[in-house]
Amino acid sequence: MIDRKDLLELISVPFKLEGLKPRFIRVSSAHISGISYNNIREEGLELLKEILSSGLRITVPTTINPGFCELEEQDCDKETYKKQLEIIETFKKLGAKPTLSCIPYLLGNIPKKGDHIAWAESNAVLYTNSVIGAWSNKESGLTALASAILGITSFYGVHLEEGRVPKVKVNFNFELSDEVDAGLAGFVLGKIVKDSIPFVSNSFKNRYDLIEFLASVGTSGVIPLVVIEGITPISVSKDYLNQIQSLSIGEEEINKAKSSLENLKSEEDAILMGCPHLSLKEVEDLLKLNRKRDKDIFVFVPKEVKAVAEKKYSKELKDKNIKLVSDSCILWGGIVSRNYSKVVTNSVKGAYYLRNVLKVEVGIRRKSEIMDV
Ligand code: F3S
Repeated sequence: MIDRKDLLELISVPFKLEGLKPRFIRVSSAHISGISYNNIREEGLELLKEILSSGLRITVPTTINPGFCELEEQDCDKETYKKQLEIIETFKKLGAKPTLSCIPYLLGNIPKKGDHIAWAESNAVLYTNSVIGAWSNKESGLTALASAILGITSFYGVHLEEGRVPKVKVNFNFELSDEVDAGLAGFVLGKIVKDSIPFVSNSFKNRYDLIEFLASVGTSGVIPLVVIEGITPISVSKDYLNQIQSLSIGEEEINKAKSSLENLKSEEDAILMGCPHLSLKEVEDLLKLNRKRDKDIFVFVPKEVKAVAEKKYSKELKDKNIKLVSDSCILWGGIVSRNYSKVVTNSVKGAYYLRNVLKVEVGIRRKSEIMDV
């Protein structure tokens, strides 16, 4: 039996570690990660079922991350599919909206500037803090669920005004010409700033590159916020920026990061895009291009995007041999069931997790190397 006191204990840990009295703040929404059966396995599912049978229920609008299988296609082995379905059904009974997407900030659970929220999924936390100006620490799947039930989160970190002040300025000494440059810059930045909130100039060509940058920051680092000049609604004076530590990232660091992430030794079996999930606009941009590489392309999207795109662009998708996949993410059961062992992706975050979690060989290829840009 799990009760509210246990959940309160759980979200109080940051204070307990410092020997402080816990303080809390109300949240207006939650977003929960770690719902893939490949990730939480039997122990995670049992815990969720125990929370449900204890009578606890979610009390604020709450969405969930992608799982491991595409539900309609049933593209996992039978047992995994059954378990994944059970996880999703348990979340539904607890009161979560089964969005199964990692871009809730664009679709399904959009916070407003100044909202205090309890979100897991690092790319979503970084986007909502850095672009929208909502306030969330980087929660784990479990602390986000505890907050979704309690309606409160621990009042520390970036929930405090002083926690949102940049402590280090990071300069990019090269042009972030596309999503891969942006992703690699984010990957290096996440490592070098450790737990200091950084300030960066807006060097991104478009929203897609910015999302890839933030997703990579969340992959290699622990920070939940990057203050981006002209984007993040936090004002920082020039005088202040001149006083703080300044770091630089150049082409050499980026190239080193790229080689450390790649281990593809021969031609790929498949091309994977959409980590984080692509929006409809990004799918439309992709469909305007001709392909360069002759391999199946799988693009991960929220199910609403898949439904609209398949209706509007069925011919283009077929002609270009592009398959949209929903409910799942780039760490997808279809890779296992199709026996793919070598993949390429234009996502730095995707490359990191594909290599480390699904243990496949990975190459990083820019959109311009996959499609005729
Ligand atoms: Fe989304 Fe999965 Fe990437 S949750 S951010 S597609 S690793």
